[in-house]
Amino acid sequence: MQVVESFEDQMLDIMNKSALALMISVGHRTKLFDTMSKLPASTSTDIARNSNLNERYVREWLGALVTAKIIDYDPQSSLYSLSKEKANFLTRNGSFNMATTAQFIPVLAQVEDEIIHCFENGGGVPYEKYHRFHDVMAEESSQTVLAELIDGILPIVPEIIEKLQQGIRVLDIGCGSGRAINLMAKTFPSSQFVGYDFSKEGIANAEREKEDLGITNSSFEQQDVANFDHEDHFDLITAFDAIHDQANPEKVLENIKRSLKPGGVFLMQDIAGSSKLENNLDHPLAPFLYTVSCLHCMTVSLALEGRGLGAMWGKEKAIEMLKGAGFSNVEVKQLPHDPINYFYVARS
Ligand SMILES: C[S@@+](CC[C@H](N)C(=O)[O-])C[C@H]1O[C@@H](n2cnc3c(N)ncnc32)[C@H](O)[C@@H]1O
Repeated sequence: MQVVESFEDQMLDIMNKSALALMISVGHRTKLFDTMSKLPASTSTDIARNSNLNERYVREWLGALVTAKIIDYDPQSSLYSLSKEKANFLTRNGSFNMATTAQFIPVLAQVEDEIIHCFENGGGVPYEKYHRFHDVMAEESSQTVLAELIDGILPIVPEIIEKLQQGIRVLDIGCGSGRAINLMAKTFPSSQFVGYDFSKEGIANAEREKEDLGITNSSFEQQDVANFDHEDHFDLITAFDAIHDQANPEKVLENIKRSLKPGGVFLMQDIAGSSKLENNLDHPLAPFLYTVSCLHCMTVSLALEGRGLGAMWGKEKAIEMLKGAGFSNVEVKQLPHDPINYFYVARS
């Protein structure tokens, strides 16, 4: 009986929290959290006025966030406030904006009909079906990659900063909107940087940013990374969250290996998890990651009749595949700013 009651509570909790993920995404996109973090305790009318939003909608949104105990409310004065501690995780100026991540829930929910069709018939949902995916991904990786790229991530490859300062060739696989390449290019003007992605939208974003920043040592190509053909060309190849959703990851890893010069390094950021379900039971984000995988990472690969590895392919499988592609030396690291990912440093 007690088990039944506690599961019922768990289900109620799930209903509330999944609804809140949508409201948190709305709060991020409308900049309501940012506005509230700069205001003293205010009425819904003042919050709406300062946000340039419709008061009735703002008040209903506040209802959800107050009853969730995220926003504080004083019924005597009808004033709403967002504490500094919470604003730190919900605003663009905070230390880590989890409201950015919440946007993935509505992005994924858009393809529910197509996903149901795949459950019944197999196949997959292609990348183009995900409205806003590249914008949300770029925002997310600004926090998990860009914020620490120069001072935290690159230094895990011994001596790479000195080499980048002297001048080397770098390729980013599945570069998305190209922000990592543009940041590295700006920081290391003596090196040459190339980004490959098969998304027209991603490459257009990357080119636009390159132009806006006046960068001259980066270039971008709309390229299927299962097909590129270089030999002994790059000193460093990176892939940020871009291997597990490949249709043909074996071929991509082989291409990477072949394109590296002797002594070159492949730096791969990919989801931290185990290939064995039973080892992920205590993973703090496992349900979220399996969901993102099923509704995006796995299905975009299956849409191309691909491998469908999924985001939770895990460390064991990743190492096996890196070794299979000819990387005999693979080190796996984790960085404090990014508990969701492993960083693999792979060499011949
Ligand atoms: C999860 S996103 C990561 C994007 C970017 N690296 C970041 O961290 O923001 C994966 C990227 O891989 C790209 N991609 C997937 N399969 C590809 C392929 N076969 N060739 C080129 N790009 C591919 C997608 O278009 C997408 O931009």
